[in-house]
Amino acid sequence: MRFDGKVALVTGGAGGMGASHVRGLAAEGARIVIGDVRDDEGRSLAAELPRATYCRLDVTEEEAWKSAVRTAEEAFGPVDVLVNNAGIVHFGGVEEQSPEHFRRVLEVNLVGTFLGMHTVLPGMRARGHGSVVNISSAAGLIGFADGIGYVASKWGVRGMTKAAALDMAGTGVRVNSVHPGVIRTAMGENASPGLFARQPVPRIGEPEEVTRMVLFLAGDDASYTTGGEFLIDGGQTVGHLGHARP
Ligand SMILES: NC(=O)c1ccc[n+]([C@@H]2O[C@H](COP(=O)([O-])OP(=O)(O)OC[C@H]3O[C@@H](n4cnc5c(N)ncnc54)[C@H](O)[C@@H]3O)[C@@H](O)[C@H]2O)c1
Repeated sequence: MRFDGKVALVTGGAGGMGASHVRGLAAEGARIVIGDVRDDEGRSLAAELPRATYCRLDVTEEEAWKSAVRTAEEAFGPVDVLVNNAGIVHFGGVEEQSPEHFRRVLEVNLVGTFLGMHTVLPGMRARGHGSVVNISSAAGLIGFADGIGYVASKWGVRGMTKAAALDMAGTGVRVNSVHPGVIRTAMGENASPGLFARQPVPRIGEPEEVTRMVLFLAGDDASYTTGGEFLIDGGQTVGHLGHARP
């Protein structure tokens, strides 16, 4: 199996796409630390899986990151794979979004991802291998109305991924970003169906479809891939179909 003997830490792993990534990694033999703020869901998912444990990890808290890495090392060994998946959205355009909501979205999505890399990458560098998968969004490639903070955070994750990939040059550690379109989770189901109705693959995406890409990037199949941005959006960001179709 692709992740036999590997240790993976997945943030926001208790629900939504994170839970799908956890299941996918587990099915491929990984030992997993699920980090989230949803303790009940996280614990019960860990209990379902053969080699998994739950750890409360609010990604905005530096100390919680240190403790999550310690949990991983004590339970399974050093972290080989980090999936920075935790994220939130507050809808609101540039005029309506409160500065508090804007800051909170940046704190979780952008600062949380930074703290994850900041905490985990030194160990990966020392061991000469590792893979980080940062979950950005189609909103990290184009603009969307009514999501000013979210768009800012996801563009930031995309840029930070490239900077970190360069910081890790020559170390054997890879860092990539994944850019999902509208995916069937609590967050995705809030999006308007108009967002995906006119894209080349005109349907909502399934979490498992994103998981397959995350697993590719997390593992050795992607050994020549770093600093990359990987779209999984049903073609949402390609362009408009135009007027030829009804
Ligand atoms: N669903 C979509 O359409 C979509 C599209 C593009 C990108 N994304 C991104 O994919 C990722 C997963 O989203 P999802 O759709 O599964 O959302 P979700 O709301 O279903 O799940 C998000 C998870 O993150 C956790 N979380 C929230 N704040 C946290 C914090 N401070 N610390 C730790 N965990 C925290 C939640 O408890 C939850 O388990 C997010 O980064 C999101 O921005 C989602």
